[in-house]
Amino acid sequence: MSLERVQYLCKIVEDKVGLHLTDDKMYLVETRLAPVLEKHGYANLESLDRDLRIGACQTIVTEVAEALVTHETLFFRDTYPYTYLEKLYIPDIIGRNAKSKHIRIWCAGASTGQEPYSLAMLIREKFPELHDWRIDFFATDVSSQVIEKAEQGIFSHFEIQRGLPVDYVLKYFESQGKTWQVKPVIRNMISFQQQNLQSFNSYHDNIDILMCRNVMLYFQPGFRRMIIDEFHNSLKEKGILILGNTEASMSNRQDLIPALNQAGIFIKASAALQQAS
Ligand SMILES: C[S@@+](CC[C@H](N)C(=O)[O-])C[C@H]1O[C@@H](n2cnc3c(N)ncnc32)[C@H](O)[C@@H]1O
Repeated sequence: MSLERVQYLCKIVEDKVGLHLTDDKMYLVETRLAPVLEKHGYANLESLDRDLRIGACQTIVTEVAEALVTHETLFFRDTYPYTYLEKLYIPDIIGRNAKSKHIRIWCAGASTGQEPYSLAMLIREKFPELHDWRIDFFATDVSSQVIEKAEQGIFSHFEIQRGLPVDYVLKYFESQGKTWQVKPVIRNMISFQQQNLQSFNSYHDNIDILMCRNVMLYFQPGFRRMIIDEFHNSLKEKGILILGNTEASMSNRQDLIPALNQAGIFIKASAALQQAS
């Protein structure tokens, strides 16, 4: 397939979800699109390309975009964001929100759910004092396929073994033979929604904890800056923004203060607050 055709497919994906595939990643296109070709009966990428150029239906455009996005994730990924939340940040919110007894959490680009489930289990396990609080917990992803899987909360042995302590598996999962399902006590904490980060008007507001990890590294710098600005608007004062550990340099806003020694973790603080502290 010609470079021009592959670039055209990649442009569709960039328009649809913001994902920017550089030429060195183009080898992914053929392997990742193979299932889409098979599902819709295309003999090869050229015929898919032809249909897309004459205006293929949105379902196919969406499936092409979803196939090219990376959904790699695991439970308690990188550990340190969860340690930071457990040891420092959640105890701090509990003090601050003691009157309202209300916390709002948003995992954006949550993939198949390992990230929000890790945080939900952590809250359930380590903070019994929150059991009677109202917790609004949103987990969103552009891909309807991964969000559907996340909502079901069914994982393979392989997925369960990646990052989960055994006592969490035994306590919060039900064995279904070859798979494991997250128990309702954890599943029911989270509202899963399909959402494209390009739709700024669909962003959640008044958020205490906003995780968006390993999502923006595939976006162009201008789009990243717009997202960070919108995330800033979504956060409450003193709310926390947690990006991936290679995404720490993506925010240079003065009012998102890097948390000490924690790569990619920022606290929202207005100028007035910074002066007072
Ligand atoms: C590599 S996964 C990261 C999952 C999880 N946050 C983690 O760190 O383990 C990136 C996820 O971002 C999602 N994504 C990509 N572009 C998006 C967009 N424009 N809006 C929302 N989600 C998007 C993908 O579908 C994918 O599931």
